[in-house]
Amino acid sequence: MKKLYIETYGCQMNVNDTEVIFAIMQDEGYGRTEDISEADVILANTCSIRDNAEQRIRGRIEQFSHYRKKRPGTIVGIVGCMAERLKDKLLDSGRVDLVAGPDAYRSLPSLIASITPDHPAINVLLSHEETYADINPVRIDKNGVSAFISIMRGCNNVCSYCVVPYTRGAERSRDPRTIIREACDLWSRGYKEVTLLGQNVDSYFWKGEGGNVDFADLLAAVAKINLRLRVRYSTSHPKDISDKLIETMARHGNICRCIHLPVQSGSDVMLEKMRRRYNRQWYLDRVRKIRSEMPDCVITTDIIAGFCGETEQDHRDTLSIMEEVGYDSAFMFAYSERPGTLAARNYPDDISPEVKNRRLTEIIELQNRLSLESYRRDIGKTFEVLVEGPSKRSPRELCGRTGGGKMCVFSSTGKDLAAGDYAFVKVRDCTSATLLCELV
Ligand code: SAH
Ligand code: SF4
Ligand code: F3S
Repeated sequence: MKKLYIETYGCQMNVNDTEVIFAIMQDEGYGRTEDISEADVILANTCSIRDNAEQRIRGRIEQFSHYRKKRPGTIVGIVGCMAERLKDKLLDSGRVDLVAGPDAYRSLPSLIASITPDHPAINVLLSHEETYADINPVRIDKNGVSAFISIMRGCNNVCSYCVVPYTRGAERSRDPRTIIREACDLWSRGYKEVTLLGQNVDSYFWKGEGGNVDFADLLAAVAKINLRLRVRYSTSHPKDISDKLIETMARHGNICRCIHLPVQSGSDVMLEKMRRRYNRQWYLDRVRKIRSEMPDCVITTDIIAGFCGETEQDHRDTLSIMEEVGYDSAFMFAYSERPGTLAARNYPDDISPEVKNRRLTEIIELQNRLSLESYRRDIGKTFEVLVEGPSKRSPRELCGRTGGGKMCVFSSTGKDLAAGDYAFVKVRDCTSATLLCELV
């Protein structure tokens, strides 16, 4: 059997795409390996979201040549968002045999078959229909408890800083029947948690013979598969998160109380320039609605520091919205100009690296305090966690997440618990990223 090795960068959607690629290649007789030195095909499933993501991957491509030299005939391929963005430019170095964009994975076997020492293969066509709906992904998660399901692809939003609409193409939703089938199959194989994925899940929409299905309908249908199946999703767009969705979450105990709601900035001027199509007041209103329906709901976010023309006042607006919402955790980034985006074409990237980094540091420091406060509020509370396995720190301890997604560690002495079991724990203490608990 030929061996396929894939390294995955970027978002959860890329992780799921890697699973789709393994499934497509398995049908052609390729088995998965985690040992790069024995691979017949080495793929990097890449991300273009920020320049530093791409730089890291470029470094890896150089290292791949080493394996190609050692084992002549080994194919090195770049797939995913960087493949889509840079297209045949990736072939210039002579280190790459294959380039395939996110909608071209079905053609991987034929592309690979066509490669000769002088002829690399490339397919970067984007599609309006491809959702890989019929493909049953080969799961690469470690514990058989939690799996991703892509429910849509692409993005129609064109936020001015963002490369995703160019690398992933137009938004399209996947047939809900195939999503439900996949979730049922995971449940029957012992999985206890599914995460529905899309760049903007709130705009999921399927026009079917039996009626239309929006994201709230889909979420409810997945939640009804079994009350012991936990359902998560990512990512919500603040402009589109509807009352219906929030109320649907509140009605189903197994839809996790956890919403990732990227704010990007707390300044209306920046939000307008970013083309986010909501303002601060709208965002805060959505947070109020979430909290009124689900007071215990965890809210997390993404923030960009130092976008074009950002003033100190704009920056302070970001810090103040963070305080106002009291995020439980956040992903925080310095703005990175991406070639071809609206921002790159229209606004100079005029905040110096020093100022960007200073602002980013202030944002991170504030979030560390907010996270610690959020975790401290849980001390003394009892949560039901889904056990993921032994904790990283100690094999005698187990770890598992609350419905809100917070990581708990606890000693399992005396109880026979394994990955996939549910357990009740009481929080004794915490750090800013972990709840230290005991079984109850
Ligand atoms: N679809 C999601 C975001 C996907 S990208 C949404 O709209 O919220 C994940 C995060 O990367 C974004 O939320 C943003 O915070 C960050 N990001 C995207 N483009 C960026 C850029 N050019 N520079 C810095 N951060 C960026
Ligand atoms: Fe990018 Fe905006 Fe689409 Fe998110 S919604 S992927 S930030 S364009
Ligand atoms: Fe990166 Fe593409 Fe995801 S740019 S964040 S891998 S959609």
